[in-house]
Amino acid sequence: MADRPYIMLGIESSCDETAAAIVGSDKTIYANEIASQIAQHAQYGGVVPEVAARAHLEAIDLVIEKALQTAGFALSDIDAFAATAGPGLIGGVAVGTVTAKAIAAARQRPYFAINHLEGHSLSARLADSVAFPYLLLLVSGGHTQLLAVAGPGQYHRYGTTMDDAAGEAFDKCAKIMGLGYPGGPAIEAAAQQGDATAIALPRPLKGADHCHFSFSGLKTALANKFKQLGGAEKAPVNDLAASLQAAIADCLADRSHHAMAQFRRDYLQASASAPPVLVIAGGVAANKYIFAQLADTASKNGFRLSVPPAALCTDNAAMIAWAALERHQQNAGDSDGFDFAPRPRWPLDAHASPPPGRGVRA
Ligand code: KG4
Ligand code: ZN
Repeated sequence: MADRPYIMLGIESSCDETAAAIVGSDKTIYANEIASQIAQHAQYGGVVPEVAARAHLEAIDLVIEKALQTAGFALSDIDAFAATAGPGLIGGVAVGTVTAKAIAAARQRPYFAINHLEGHSLSARLADSVAFPYLLLLVSGGHTQLLAVAGPGQYHRYGTTMDDAAGEAFDKCAKIMGLGYPGGPAIEAAAQQGDATAIALPRPLKGADHCHFSFSGLKTALANKFKQLGGAEKAPVNDLAASLQAAIADCLADRSHHAMAQFRRDYLQASASAPPVLVIAGGVAANKYIFAQLADTASKNGFRLSVPPAALCTDNAAMIAWAALERHQQNAGDSDGFDFAPRPRWPLDAHASPPPGRGVRA
């Protein structure tokens, strides 16, 4: 059995999806199951932590069972168990880690405590054969970061947001305009009927001499325009959505352009034959307009763009199983103890320098 793939069961429960996946070390995704709580949170216009924790508890056993069924595996076929141990909503993270630890302990198999952001970061290597090092734009509901990824556990953060994340800006602006939750897909759909040049919105930090982001001023500008243009009664929501999407895309492209230059200086040999790679990961990477703008910026900078398929961009457990497999492949003994405590904050680069000015997100 020496050449059979190593089989990992991963669990993700850090936000509003309860997910379980079974992935092999040969990159076979045997199962990738998700129970979404979106309907339970939609009435509140955002994720409510207490509602999320309870929903994770109700769904987790069923989702694991479904993953085993889809894969056609029994628990005895699984070599190791992994769960998101942070950052995220602590109630949900506790449900996922306790479940993974309990099964791993009962079956006497290794347990891996995975950083959710590392799951997103390494997902491009599950979907595409991207080699280290690469530049990563991680854009989700909780994070907007540019990082150089040199290997599992080896990150150099170039920039982060000073306030809201890009996905958070989509979600808050959608709420202002009454477009529902989650806001990203709703704004992308509305924007298809709108004119991206119709309404002038700011591009915070465009051209700045660092790689950080800021989106809260854009949200305030959108709210003001929405009000000035007649609010819920009269405001041209499709034009506002298209203009907002264009402004966010423009900021992401400009900051990525800056980071590509830094990545070239830090990591690339003049003699390198293959082009460097820019990976986009996280829920916002599912946006086609943003993808097109970043593809253009990447190609102008001589980078290849790699974006995992949508099912691996938004929160999922296959990326958690894969991050654990990367660690296992690097060092077969590198699992975690059952005393590993969940971490509500867990930066990928613990030594990252903060952006100038205001407070920073992990
Ligand atoms: O990675 P993810 O599933 O969860 C987090 O870890 O945050 O990202 C969710 C975020 C939400 O803010 C959602 O509005 C945004 O990703 N999103 C999008 C799109 N699909 C999801 N934003 C823009 N366009 C989309 N098509
Ligand atoms: Zn995420």
